[in-house]
Amino acid sequence: MQDVTDLAFMRVIAHYGAPDLFFTEFFRVHAQSRPERHILRSIDENDTGRPVFAQMIGEDIPHMVRTAADLARHPIAGIDLNLGCPAPKVYKKNVGGGLLRDPEKISEILRALRECVGGGLLTVKMRLGFDDTACFDELVDTIGAHRPNLLSVHGRTVKEGYRSDVHYEFIARAASRAPCPVLANGNITSAAKAATVLSQTGARGVMIGRHAIRNPWIFGQIRDASQGKAPRRVTLGDVRDYVGRLYAATRHDGIPEQAHVNKMKKYLNFVGQSVDPAGDFLRDMRRTETEAELFAVFDRHLMADPGREFSPEPYPGVIARPNCETPDSDGCSLETVTA
Ligand SMILES: Cc1cc2nc3c(=O)[nH]c(=O)nc-3n(C[C@H](O)[C@H](O)[C@H](O)COP(=O)(O)O)c2cc1C
Repeated sequence: MQDVTDLAFMRVIAHYGAPDLFFTEFFRVHAQSRPERHILRSIDENDTGRPVFAQMIGEDIPHMVRTAADLARHPIAGIDLNLGCPAPKVYKKNVGGGLLRDPEKISEILRALRECVGGGLLTVKMRLGFDDTACFDELVDTIGAHRPNLLSVHGRTVKEGYRSDVHYEFIARAASRAPCPVLANGNITSAAKAATVLSQTGARGVMIGRHAIRNPWIFGQIRDASQGKAPRRVTLGDVRDYVGRLYAATRHDGIPEQAHVNKMKKYLNFVGQSVDPAGDFLRDMRRTETEAELFAVFDRHLMADPGREFSPEPYPGVIARPNCETPDSDGCSLETVTA
């Protein structure tokens, strides 16, 4: 996730139980682009013990190939092509989700990338379509013709943004149609939901975005459940440990305190969905301006009853409220969303 899945975040997640695979934030590719250094760090210094795929977003084929070749000099698991970003400023350039309107172009990009990566791994992240799902089968077949090693399907169209229902029946269609394993993505909120979606879709696995920010234990809980064990119960005291660790890990020298508190709020908007059903933690957290105020909120809401359960599912009606969760969002970026 852009502005989220950096090295610091990956390390924090891995501390609580890493996923099997990571995908970087997207590398923007255009004529002047060079792989962004802070994203490269999440590859070069990845010490999570889990492979990381480098995601690219773009449409300029020679520069996509140049970037894929550059990235191959780093310890990547493979290259992932973003065909899903719904931000208007992105899709208007015919990249990300915008490419879903042009299967021929997708085919040209994948042909060139497949040639470039050779026997290496090439994966694709897609949505169901741009305005609607009319071309879904064609898109899956077009992508499938280039022998991707994995296809992640976010079960919404570009126009549906982040908050509509997720159309898992299309993920099931992809799982039976694509010549490669499919990951189901969209609102995998808990281990129980992952199990339901896996059995409903026949997907090989799940991809998790926002709910890993809310609950970094989710990957371990899914693993527990898949081995027939009861998923680990997370308490508010555990969450106090998480938010303190996240604060320390994402702090950089030179960032003013208030800017860092604001950055933390973007993660905490998701965390707060499971702290209390009335959204009191979220309300108080959003009013803070200093580190001391923020940590006082942590202690008041998380340590008053540290053994109380952190809800495995988000409480109904407690909305994270980032712009990126609204259907007409213009950004997946936490920087643009006050998420
Ligand atoms: C803040 C934010 C940033 C995101 N950045 C990316 C990205 O760089 N690449 C990508 O493929 N998807 C990105 N996404 C989309 C997620 O990967 C995922 O497809 C979507 O949020 C639905 O899954 P979820 O319900 O598990 O969050 C982003 C989502 C959010 C909320």
